[in-house]
Amino acid sequence: MSAAPTPVERDALARARELALNGRGRVSPNPLVGAVVLSPRGRTVAEGWHEGPGEEHAEAMALRLAGDEARGATVVCTLEPCSHWGRTPPCANALIEAGVARVVVGALDPLERDRARGADVLRGAGIDVALASGDDERACRALNAPFLTHALLGRPHVTLKLAASLDGRVATSAGESRWITGEPARALVHRWRADHDAVMVGVNTAVTDDPLLTARGLDGPVRQPVRVVVDSRGRLPLESALVRGAGGATVVVATAQDAPAAAVAALQERGVRVVAAGAGRVDLPATLRILAEMGLQSVFVEGGGVLAGALLRAGVVDDLRWFAAPLVLGDDARPAVAGVGWPRLADAPRPSGATIEAVGDDALITGRLTPLPGEV
Ligand SMILES: NC(=O)c1ccc[n+]([C@@H]2O[C@H](COP(=O)([O-])OP(=O)(O)OC[C@H]3O[C@@H](n4cnc5c(N)ncnc54)[C@H](OP(=O)(O)O)[C@@H]3O)[C@@H](O)[C@H]2O)c1
Ligand SMILES: [Zn+2]
Repeated sequence: MSAAPTPVERDALARARELALNGRGRVSPNPLVGAVVLSPRGRTVAEGWHEGPGEEHAEAMALRLAGDEARGATVVCTLEPCSHWGRTPPCANALIEAGVARVVVGALDPLERDRARGADVLRGAGIDVALASGDDERACRALNAPFLTHALLGRPHVTLKLAASLDGRVATSAGESRWITGEPARALVHRWRADHDAVMVGVNTAVTDDPLLTARGLDGPVRQPVRVVVDSRGRLPLESALVRGAGGATVVVATAQDAPAAAVAALQERGVRVVAAGAGRVDLPATLRILAEMGLQSVFVEGGGVLAGALLRAGVVDDLRWFAAPLVLGDDARPAVAGVGWPRLADAPRPSGATIEAVGDDALITGRLTPLPGEV
C-alpha cells in the first residue's frame, strides 16, 4: 500500500494541472497532461506537459529535462502514465528506465484499462505508485472531461454557450442578435471556439446570422474547430459563409436520414461533409455519437434557442456558459431555450458548482450539468 500524496506532492499536482493547460486547444485526440519531477527532498527538478499528437508526452518531457536527477525522484502527473507504444514510446517504460522511486497519479486513464495499465506496469517494476483522491482527483478528471466523456460515453463533451438578455432572450422578434453581449465576452467566445474540436449551431442561426464560426483575433497558433450545423433537411444556403468556406471536411451538416437527396448532394459537391441520423428530424444523441466516431471530443454549442432546448431536454449538455447581458428584450423576442419546459423546479437543469464573474459589462455564469464521467 502506497502512502497518500503528501502536501508537497499535492501542490506539485496543482502545478502539473497548470502545465497541462499549455496544450489547451491542441492536444485532442490526446488528453491534456502535465508532470512535475520532485527531488527526494521535495524540490522541483523539472516540469513537462504534452503539446499534442506526435509530440513528447508530459512525463517524457519532464524526465528529459530532469536528466540524472530523475533517479530516485518522485514524478507527479495529472494522468496515469501510458503503457503502450503509440507515436512515442510508453511513459511507464521511460519512468522505469529513469529509475524514479515514486509516481503520484492524479487520475486513472480509462483507455489504460484495455492495455497493460500504466500504474500496474510501474508497480510491477517496484515503483511506489500513489493515487490522488477527493478534490485533487476530481480536478485532474475535470481537466480532461472531453477526453474522458469521449472514451467512457462514446460522445463528445458538450458545452452550451448562450448570450442572453436579462430576461433570457437571444434575439429580437426580428431576429436581431448582434450584439447582445459586449466586446470582452465576444473575444472570450473566440478563445472558446479554439479550445473545442467542434462548434455547433442550429440551422436557423446559420440562416439568420450567416456566421463563419471560426476562431479569430487570437494570439499564437490556433487550431480551427470543425463547424457543425444541425439541419434536418439540408437547407443551409449554398451561398452561406459556412458553405463558401467549406472544404477539407471543416464544415459538417448533420441531417435526418430522409433529407432531400438533391440538397445533400449539392452540399457535398461544395465540400461539406454530411452525416445523417434520425427520421424527419436530426437525432441529436445519435449525431453526437457520429461526431465522436469522427474523433471529435468536444463540441461547443452556440445556439440558437431551439437547438439549446433540444440538447438540454436530451440531457447531453455537460457544461453551461451563460452570458447575461444588461438589456431587456421583452417577451416577443426569441427565448434562449425554446420548445421545452420543466413544470417541476426540481427537474429544471441547474448547474452544480456554478460560478459568476463579470466579463466587461456582462455576467458570465458557468457550471456543470452532468456528473463528471466515471462519477455517479
Ligand atoms: N444570442 C445568442 O447567443 C444567439 C446564439 C445563436 C442564435 N441566436 C439567434 O437565435 C435565432 C435562431 O435560433 P432558433 O432558436 O430559431 O433556431 P436554432 O436553434 O438556431 O435552429 C433550430 C433548428 O435546428 C433544426 N434542428 C434539426 N434537428 C433538430 C433537433 N433535433 N432539435 C432542435 N432543432 C433541430 C430545426 O430546423 P429543421 O427542422 O429544418 O432541421 C430547428 O428549427 C437567430 O435569430 C439568431 O440570431 C442568438
Ligand atoms: Zn505517455
